[in-house]
Amino acid sequence: MSRAAAATIHLAALAANLARVRALAPRAKVMAVVKADGYGHGLERVARALGDADAFGVASLQDGQRLRAAGFRQRIVVLSGYDEPGDLPELRRLALEPVIHHVSQLDLLEAERVASGHPLRCWVEIDTGMHRLGFDPEALPGVMARLAALPQVERAPVLMSHFANSDVADDPISAEQMRRFDAACAAHDTERSLANSAGLLHFPGHAAEWIRVGGLLYGISVIEGRTGADLGFHPAMTLSTRLIAINRVRAGESVGYAGTYICPEDMPVGVAAIGYGDGYPRHVPVDTPVRVGGREVPLIGRVSMDLVTLDLRGHPEARVGDPVVLWGRGLPVERIAAAAETIGYELTCGMTRRVAFVEDVSPPGGAGIT
Ligand SMILES: Cc1ncc(COP(=O)(O)O)c(C=O)c1O
Repeated sequence: MSRAAAATIHLAALAANLARVRALAPRAKVMAVVKADGYGHGLERVARALGDADAFGVASLQDGQRLRAAGFRQRIVVLSGYDEPGDLPELRRLALEPVIHHVSQLDLLEAERVASGHPLRCWVEIDTGMHRLGFDPEALPGVMARLAALPQVERAPVLMSHFANSDVADDPISAEQMRRFDAACAAHDTERSLANSAGLLHFPGHAAEWIRVGGLLYGISVIEGRTGADLGFHPAMTLSTRLIAINRVRAGESVGYAGTYICPEDMPVGVAAIGYGDGYPRHVPVDTPVRVGGREVPLIGRVSMDLVTLDLRGHPEARVGDPVVLWGRGLPVERIAAAAETIGYELTCGMTRRVAFVEDVSPPGGAGIT
């Protein structure tokens, strides 16, 4: 028997989420961030569903190569830029747009011998306070002057920066980042890009010419206490499997590895075919919600590699073969992420190769897997 674990990708939800993002920032161009294999949903499939985006944002040259090989002609921004001389001809050949965030990249660009062809379109990242990638604002005029002196680089690169904590509405770091960004950009007549998903929600006035949105397109919120659904977005992935056993376990007996759960009474224990070998987080605690045949039940015992165990006392009609939803439609991934002390992004990115991916074209608000 093949394993039932499946990630159903709701293509219409992706498209509807993009439309909602556009409605929130009607004047901004949208870079759909599809790095990490489209946040685990599948790069090419996500790009197809989000074909209306003004650009795609990927982490690496390899992702750009994949998108071009699949025939995508949209603008593609490589968010980590490049780090080897050999990357530059490939970026040019494929018309990919690297983010330049470090002086070593300027050195590579200046050392490049370019015979002919279109100038390279670049983005320049300013470090406004996250201290991950980007130039210090004070270095920006020098960086722009070096780029302007290169005929093989297109004029007026887009200036961008990244929020460190936009998930939290009132963290003063965001206000300071916006102030530094505006100040750094003031002297340059270029397009700008600052907001990610949470930035768009919390600071719509700072959408600038480009927003770079990932999470919301997948229907995932990183704002504490709010799910994507609360914000009008639709989950793009439903992770599901089936119930493969129901056992009656006596009061006082333990369930699963290390016997961490002791049955308080004689009770039905369901077993579903999914585990950390599929990407379901091993460390979720007892009472993490799972949906069986459309009804929520608590997880009990330890998550093992292939299986989870469920308390079915509240669901006496459950039968072997019933569909089980781990997250997605009807069960927001943010709830599981909270139980696992992470964010929804990490969960959707974590699907392993044995999970079957299924494409679904039903309307975005459609029924869950029941
Ligand atoms: C540089 C950059 N811009 C935009 C995004 C999109 O962020 P989000 O998925 O929260 O919208 C990311 C993702 O981490 C990023 O690294």
